[in-house]
Amino acid sequence: MTLTIHLNGKAQAVAADPETPLLYVLRDELGLNGAKYGCGLGQCGACTVQLDGKAIFSCITPVGAVGDRAVRTVEGLGSLDHMSPLQQAFLDEQAAQCGYCIAGMLMRAQALLDVNPHPGEAEIRSHMQPNLCRCGTHMRILRAIRRVAGQSGKGAAA
Ligand code: FES
Repeated sequence: MTLTIHLNGKAQAVAADPETPLLYVLRDELGLNGAKYGCGLGQCGACTVQLDGKAIFSCITPVGAVGDRAVRTVEGLGSLDHMSPLQQAFLDEQAAQCGYCIAGMLMRAQALLDVNPHPGEAEIRSHMQPNLCRCGTHMRILRAIRRVAGQSGKGAAA
């Protein structure tokens, strides 16, 4: 069936079974490959996108459950030519190693910064906890978020 989702500021028609995970629709139907398939179980965060500003696991969110809520993916955050401040900070801190988790990390971190532009260390760590990086660049990722949060290194272990 044809559904309409609100994706990165635009209405987007998609032909999909409502039970199809949002992640599959984004990647397979719409060609938005930023969000990644990691575990498929809501346990790694590679597939994180925003739904009405909240970070969600798109691998376990049926597209039919999205309704009128706004979907935002990393493609809606910025581009190579016009990076968002958070993307620039990830680049400056060389936060990516293999890069597989980074779109999800960005979207979860941005969800926090959008409601609290200056989160403290404990809040950043707690908020980012669901997203995993198997390369182990968490400390660089935290540094990048701190950079945007304006607390460069305060209370930080790295
Ligand atoms: Fe969705 Fe792991 S792929 S949480």
